[in-house]
Amino acid sequence: MDLDAFRRLLTPDGRRALEAAAETVGGDPVAAVTRLRKTFDAGLTSAALTQAALRHRAREKFGADAALMYFTPDGLEQATRREVADHRARRIAPGSRVADACCGIGGDLLALVRAGCTVEAVDADPLTAAVARANADALGFGDRVSVRTADAATVDPAAFDVLFADPARRSARGRTFDPMAYSPAWPEILRMVAGAESACLKVAPGIPYEFIPAGAEAEWVSYRGEVKEAVIWSGALAGPVERRATMLPAGTTLTPDPELGRAGTGPVGRYLYEPDGAAIRAHLVAEVAALVGGRLLDPQIAYITGDAPVETPWASRYEVHEVLPFSLKRLRAALRERGAGNVTIKKRGSAVDVERLRKDLRLSGDKSLTVVLTRIGDRPFALICSSHQAF
Ligand SMILES: C[S@@+](CC[C@H](N)C(=O)[O-])C[C@H]1O[C@@H](n2cnc3c(N)ncnc32)[C@H](O)[C@@H]1O
Repeated sequence: MDLDAFRRLLTPDGRRALEAAAETVGGDPVAAVTRLRKTFDAGLTSAALTQAALRHRAREKFGADAALMYFTPDGLEQATRREVADHRARRIAPGSRVADACCGIGGDLLALVRAGCTVEAVDADPLTAAVARANADALGFGDRVSVRTADAATVDPAAFDVLFADPARRSARGRTFDPMAYSPAWPEILRMVAGAESACLKVAPGIPYEFIPAGAEAEWVSYRGEVKEAVIWSGALAGPVERRATMLPAGTTLTPDPELGRAGTGPVGRYLYEPDGAAIRAHLVAEVAALVGGRLLDPQIAYITGDAPVETPWASRYEVHEVLPFSLKRLRAALRERGAGNVTIKKRGSAVDVERLRKDLRLSGDKSLTVVLTRIGDRPFALICSSHQAF
């Protein structure tokens, strides 16, 4: 979809085409084209059907608002899901003037406006900026949002209470994990942060620690057990701790306990605990071990073991039934003996190819079990556990 095709969707004709397209979602695509073509030309038909399909897909991230919003395929993929954007926006005082330096289709800017901020946004891509503008209007926030097509470098962070930036982490060659390859590039982002009173940066959860600016707080956020992002808070927005893990949708937060040293290690107990990924990324495994009264199996690996069944939102618990030095033959025999056909395989510190192992195990029973592959010291182990329980 180009900018002209998108603009047509915003006209009265375009809105009618979109309404008609929404009724065809999930049905036969050829019949949908035939139906729309009775009233609309080929360009509008194609744009409306594409947009209706994107809206349908976007419900997972944006809920009911998706039916009113506009998307590009890339913009939808890169947009922050509503619950995560709302969590971040709540930390910014209502009434703040925020610069969104690379707004995409507006997932974050909409959350900032919902939280009571006014937002001046830019995006380098004209179509994406037009979609963000249309989204602010469609949700009734047009008077508190301005969107320009411009490079982030044109934003003067000193003119705002808060600088927000969610740089692009995808290049023509795919997703990048290297902050130096972000767009805007990391040095440009740091220059902007240095000029801002306060800043909030959304970055990939795997950001190397050495990239986190001194004095900033880094928060790792998981949503329904999956780590979504790291957030760097600077200036007045940085909290009193340097690291934090937050689980959404509950909003539970974990911070370093200054009294705790490194987690101890010890033999496999009756239970195995797997910490939430946000706690692992935030280097808070010792804190989770303390919560469950546990110890690590290996000092380098984030599996905790303990003797009591403790319930915590910060870890999934498994009951350990058997610990085997890893060997395909022994594992297959042990699982067959237990009648295990439905096996979840988890691993940390193991190079085993899980899909290959699953095939090689050739399981056929009716029981469900979890196999945890790990190493203790330099020896590989398989732990046969009862199926995973998350709290
Ligand atoms: C990850 S997306 C932002 C997603 C947005 N926060 C949301 O929730 O919808 C990053 C955006 O940065 C834009 N961008 C990349 N380089 C830029 C630059 N130098 N200046 C302004 N925008 C840029 C891209 O066009 C892309 O839309």
